Amino acid sequence: MTQRKIAVFVGSLRKESFNRKMAKALTSLAPESLKLEIIEIGGLPLYDQDLDDNPPAAWTEFRERVMKFDGVLFVTPEYNRSVPGVLKNAIDVGSRPYGKSVWDGKPGAVMTVSPGAIGGFGANHHLRQSLVFLNVPTMQQPEAYIGNAANLFDESGNLANDSIRGFITKFIHAFAVWVETNTSSRK
Ligand SMILES: Cc1cc2nc3c(=O)[nH]c(=O)nc-3n(C[C@H](O)[C@H](O)[C@H](O)COP(=O)(O)O)c2cc1C
Repeated sequence: MTQRKIAVFVGSLRKESFNRKMAKALTSLAPESLKLEIIEIGGLPLYDQDLDDNPPAAWTEFRERVMKFDGVLFVTPEYNRSVPGVLKNAIDVGSRPYGKSVWDGKPGAVMTVSPGAIGGFGANHHLRQSLVFLNVPTMQQPEAYIGNAANLFDESGNLANDSIRGFITKFIHAFAVWVETNTSSRK
């Protein structure tokens, strides 16, 4: 079995972020065939096309780092019915210079987590729109719009009940299959 390395991007910088807690839960429930690692995006300078010829070191390090991963997993809140700026910025930074996008062909998945009832549906699908253009084959099912986030974690930040634990396990196992299928067909 080849272990596939998955870069995880959390669309919130908040210390007590539900999405970061969820990313950690996904990491601990992942099968042996996946190794998840959170890539920090909060320190990336805002993308500016004028800097393409002389990019900030943080952009270059980010691009080189993400390039080495086999797949990408986005775990994000919804801000104003769309993708938080910090995550969109990371996606834009990784997409350039033109023709050298780090996203190209990497199998991906999206999970949105919100205290609200709609579970970040808007952000989930806005993000998918970018991923179509970036040629990230993105897992269709199971969809993951996780609402009611304030009740999903215990005081230590672990998933609070078997129902959500079961769904997260199902999601990450399905993603392992998705990564394997899409990796094999690429090579
Ligand atoms: C600027 C801003 C916009 C928001 N817009 C939405 C929204 O459109 N839909 C939603 O479900 N929650 C929205 N929220 C609430 C977030 O879902 C909530 O703050 C959530 O806890 C953020 O994710 P985190 O816990 O991972 O930081 C918004 C929060 C902020 C700060």
